[in-house]
Amino acid sequence: MQVHKYDVVIIGAGGAGMRAAIEAGQRVRTAVLTKLYPTRSHTGAAQGGMCAALANVEEDNWEWHTFDTIKGGDYLVDQDSAEVMAKEAIEAVLDLEKMGLPFNRTPEGRIDQRRFGGHTRDHGKAPVRRSCYAADRTGHMILQTLYQNCVKHNVEFYNEYYVLDLVMVEDEDGVRRPAGVVSYDLATGDVHVFQAKSIIFASGGCGKIFKTTSNAHTLTGDGMAIALRNGIPLEDMEFVQFHPTGLAGLGILVSEAARGEGGILRNSDGERFMERYAPTIKDLAPRDIVARSMANEVREGRGCGPNKDYVLLDLTHLEPSHIDEKLPDITEFARTYLGVEPYTEPVPVFPTAHYAMGGIPTNIKAEVHANSEDIIPGLYAAGEVACVSVHGSNRLGTNSLLDINVFGKRAGMYAAEYAASADFLPVSDDAADETLALLNQIRNGEGTEKVGQLRKELQDVMDADMQVFRTEETIHNAVDKIVELEERYKSIQIQDKGKRFNLDLLEAVELGFLLELAKVMSVAALHRKESRGGHFREDYPDRDDANFMKHSMVYRDETTEMEGIKGLRFDTKPVTFTRYEPMERKY
Ligand code: FUM
Repeated sequence: MQVHKYDVVIIGAGGAGMRAAIEAGQRVRTAVLTKLYPTRSHTGAAQGGMCAALANVEEDNWEWHTFDTIKGGDYLVDQDSAEVMAKEAIEAVLDLEKMGLPFNRTPEGRIDQRRFGGHTRDHGKAPVRRSCYAADRTGHMILQTLYQNCVKHNVEFYNEYYVLDLVMVEDEDGVRRPAGVVSYDLATGDVHVFQAKSIIFASGGCGKIFKTTSNAHTLTGDGMAIALRNGIPLEDMEFVQFHPTGLAGLGILVSEAARGEGGILRNSDGERFMERYAPTIKDLAPRDIVARSMANEVREGRGCGPNKDYVLLDLTHLEPSHIDEKLPDITEFARTYLGVEPYTEPVPVFPTAHYAMGGIPTNIKAEVHANSEDIIPGLYAAGEVACVSVHGSNRLGTNSLLDINVFGKRAGMYAAEYAASADFLPVSDDAADETLALLNQIRNGEGTEKVGQLRKELQDVMDADMQVFRTEETIHNAVDKIVELEERYKSIQIQDKGKRFNLDLLEAVELGFLLELAKVMSVAALHRKESRGGHFREDYPDRDDANFMKHSMVYRDETTEMEGIKGLRFDTKPVTFTRYEPMERKY
């Protein structure tokens, strides 16, 4: 076992991880551990933009942005977090501009801005142009820019190092604190321990729980599951965002920017159906509303195609030159993957699992919560892995590229500040034993179950039973299946028994993470007997503020049982209000 020592260790090299690294790396010795090569991180797949009330093209201000974020999240948003994010958005965009990000420009040379769902002028009066963008490759540009700046600041990267465990120890005051992480080097198969004073989780989401998803193969919720296994709760995991426009049958993201630039959703009658569901802002309603409306059109028989199982995104009224300038990548995706020419034909689309609103609970300093009150000194999280609860029960488009920049920066600053005055905690010689035991158990497994098959069955049941519409019955069905899969997981056998580049082994570990998180998600969904944001219970179709205006907190606890399911404990955490009273959510 090799041991390394850094002041700050960051897990993940997407936008949040690298933004944190730029801050921490300039202050203290910092290492970034990533299971990929940094510029392959999933931030690179984000398309349509990063919002900030720059007011470059029309009147706007950060207070309207705060309000939209809170209302968009169906009032489950922690309002202090939303205020921080909307206020610091402006500086976050300007930081990136100074780092060299090539934003699209107005004719006068300012950063151009476009419309996105749920972003409005003056508390919902009309859509507003708030998203700063680089064509439909904004995430790609952010990732490249952040990486170049990490290189400039000599941040040390450990590429293809999979973090598999957190080392938690009790300090002299009896407080549980992180002392380091255990990681697996894909190239050699060796296990390395990184001792650190501060640790930042920035390892992204868990979209691969679902079959139809815009998420990359690597988004297996590693950070969330590792936290859970180390006694840290997960917050609001029932809230999954289904992006309305995935390429039908494939789930590949077609940016909401397509609708921001004037694209229209139509059903089999050619009707612009969003006029019925959201009369004021129509196709630019928040994603939960658009995704449900699309699914409803299909359910009621107004779907398109031979199986009537998708709707159409119509761009044919836009000038081809406008499409080429603003939406080059997604139109190419439609041509490549569906053989559809967006200049002249509408594009088949259907909701795709896109984003986890829940995750590791954090506060506005990106500090991780051990429970509803206490933080864990030295432990931070930012980006999709975290739940600073800025998205509540439904995230607005373009608020995630913003989230990673604002809270990534904060995580880096506060983690470095903490590390500057803290001591290293001791890491014992057996710190990696559990990880080694897990890897050996999988490597030596002689059962008959195959990882790919179990993952497929998990994804199928989650698509069928935990998608846009849920009921007690469908969620129970998902839970039963997950419990069955967990049992079968004990009998897996992998084919590659070797040490070098053993992706077979790591996919098996990742499947364990996915199963655990799917169970948390389903159990939290069972518990929330109301409909709010991305969580729609057909058996409880209304929002119920009296009973459910609170965050869910799920803990791993072998001694308890929740909704008839063993091993998880449920609790709640209050929502933070500043000045916005919950209102009916009309668009
Ligand atoms: O539609 C999109 O371009 C995705 C943006 C987001 O998820 O924020």
